[in-house]
Formats: sequence, C-alpha cells, structure tokens
Amino acid sequence: MKRLIIPLLLAIALSMNAAPGMPVIKGERFPDTQGDHINAHGGGIMEKDGTYYWYGEHRGDGTPGSGQKGVVCYTSSDLHAWTPRGVVLAVTDTKGDPLEAGCIIERPKVVFCPATAKYVMWFHHELKGVGYGSAHSAVAVADNPLGPFRMLRTGRVNPGVMPVNLPSESVSKQWSDTLEWWTPQWRKAVDEGMFTVRDLDRGQMARDMGIFVDSDGKAYHIYSSESNLTLQIAELDSTFTRHTGKYVRLFPGGHNEAPAMFKHDGVYWMITSGCTGWEPNEARLMRADNILGPWKQLPNPCRGAEAEKTFCGQSTFVMRVGDSYTFMADIWNPKNLADSRHLWLPVKFDSDGVPFIDSPDSYRIASIE
Ligand code: GAL
Repeated sequence: MKRLIIPLLLAIALSMNAAPGMPVIKGERFPDTQGDHINAHGGGIMEKDGTYYWYGEHRGDGTPGSGQKGVVCYTSSDLHAWTPRGVVLAVTDTKGDPLEAGCIIERPKVVFCPATAKYVMWFHHELKGVGYGSAHSAVAVADNPLGPFRMLRTGRVNPGVMPVNLPSESVSKQWSDTLEWWTPQWRKAVDEGMFTVRDLDRGQMARDMGIFVDSDGKAYHIYSSESNLTLQIAELDSTFTRHTGKYVRLFPGGHNEAPAMFKHDGVYWMITSGCTGWEPNEARLMRADNILGPWKQLPNPCRGAEAEKTFCGQSTFVMRVGDSYTFMADIWNPKNLADSRHLWLPVKFDSDGVPFIDSPDSYRIASIE
C-alpha cells in the first residue's frame, strides 16, 4: 500500500507546483522562534541582504482591551523560522500625537529606498477616537530595517489634484446628494467621480493599501479610496515618501479592499477582496500591461473548496522569491485579532499565464505522511 501511496503523494506534491522550500501555511497556529503565534497581521515581507523582514499589525496580547502597540517585525533567513524583533513603529502615550495609543494602524508595508538608503513604511492610519473616519495614509522612515521608524506624515492623498484618468470637467459637475447607494444613477455618479471631487480639497481617502516597487525602481501606493468604493494607484517620488500627484482610479464602485500587487513576465496582477469587514469574501483578480492601467478584472483566482470565501482569508501581500509567488492572507478573528491566522499559499499560473490559487484542502493530502 505504502508503495502506491508514496508515488501518489509525490505526484500530488509535484502537481502542487509549490516552489521547493517555500512555506505553505493553512491557518494553523504559526509559532515564532519563541513558540508564540506570530502577531503580525495585514502585513508584508521585505527582503534585504538575504534576510526576510515580516512587518505587520500588532493586535494586542489577546486579553480584552489590550490594544495595538504599533507595527511589529519578525525576521527569517529561510521563511520558515521567524524571530520576533519587537515593535519597530510604536504608538505613544502622548495626548494628541497622531500615534497616540488608540489610533488604528493597519496594513503596514516596508520598502527599501535606494535613493535615500532609508527603509520606508507606509500604513493605513486612523487617528484616535474617530473610528475609520480619518482614512489617512501615514509614512515613516528608518535607517535600519528593525527601526525605530520615525513618523513623517499622516494625511489624505494628493489634495487638490485630479486623477489622470478623470476628465477635469468633473470638477464642475453637480451630483444630487440624495442619490440612493447602488442605484444606476448613483453608480453613474460614482463612475463620473462624485467621491473623487467630494474629497478633492482635503485629499483622497486611503484605507486598505499596498506598496509596489516596479522593476524600473519606481514605487506606487495602491489603496482603497472614495469611501472604499474605488481603488487608486498613486506614484511615489524617488524618496518613496511623497506622492508625485500622478494617480489613477480603478474600478469605480468596485468595492475593492486588501490590494496585493505583483508582476510576472511583464504583466501586473492584483488580488483584492470585497468589502465585508473582518468577514471573508470572494477574492478578485485584475491584470494590466501598464501599472497605471487600463486594468481588467478576471474571475476569482481561488479554486476548490471555499474558493468563494478566499479559503476564509483576506489578501494582504504576494511575496515573490525568485520565480515563485506566495499569496499571503489573513484569516481574521475579530474576537481576538491577535490570534488571527495566516494563510500562505502558492500562486500557480495556468497555461495562459493567468495566476490561480488552489484550496488548502488539496495540500492536506500531501502532508499526511
Ligand atoms: C477590513 C479591512 C481590514 C480592517 C477591517 C475592519 O475590510 O480589510 O484591514 O480595516 O475591515 O473592519
């Protein structure tokens, strides 16, 4: 029997197409080198000089009322064993400080900026006491990947500037503020830029986000804007700490969150989620030949059991190591966010080069032995 099982498992393992050595995490506890579940959520990974740095949201210590301490970092040389490196951007006790404890820090992403030799962190930031009302992005820098990161700015994006793909005539357009959401008239108004124009003076809202550094060295900020209805991609300057003013809107009214962008064979891909808070929903896949568009939406990239719920996860990052790509997602536990689980699954490509992700169910078989 074993003689039959081993080749079968081998065949399954090979068909999984997971790059050898890449970890596959299926929502089980993911202990760090001290045995504690990794408390880094909505995060992403940066590689520098052979070390992987995993930055994520600290989500309290699991006891009721324990809040976020800031952004935490874990390091690894093999992507399997992760050493906790503590808080690299900390909340403060100072009243009125933008980072006053009680503010919300989500989806931190760190990149190295060659022009300044600094590590640059962007994150979704909500000031204390206003729920999700600020819709800010914040940027912090450090000389060392382990911090401490120093906050430079928090605010909306590109105040006073119109997106390159929205006709400036929209600025003078009037929309009725009694339009009922999701009606065809409302959809048309969203498409025409009703929310972009609403936020023009203050700057565009920016909640769930990612940062992508292109092969030509340019960096981009990708974020859910316009009351989470529309994605925007904004170019960053050579310091990676400022928006240049050049930005585009994608999928107006598409309700996309949790953008995770990657590039494969010259094509830009993005996996996003819908907007259902901590509840999982069906992932979306988008592709473009040019980062600033046009972007096209394709069917759900997830396949197999629970594909319609992204296997209970929500995208946060696609990690590229050599030619292999790993889809990273959070399985949120809103009752104890610190215990939210991690999903790391290989991104495979079909014969047309379109990425897809198989249900973790198919991996269980391979791990029986
Ligand atoms: C999700 C979002 C998370 C967090 C959560 C709060 O939609 O992706 O980052 O903001 O809502 O409910």
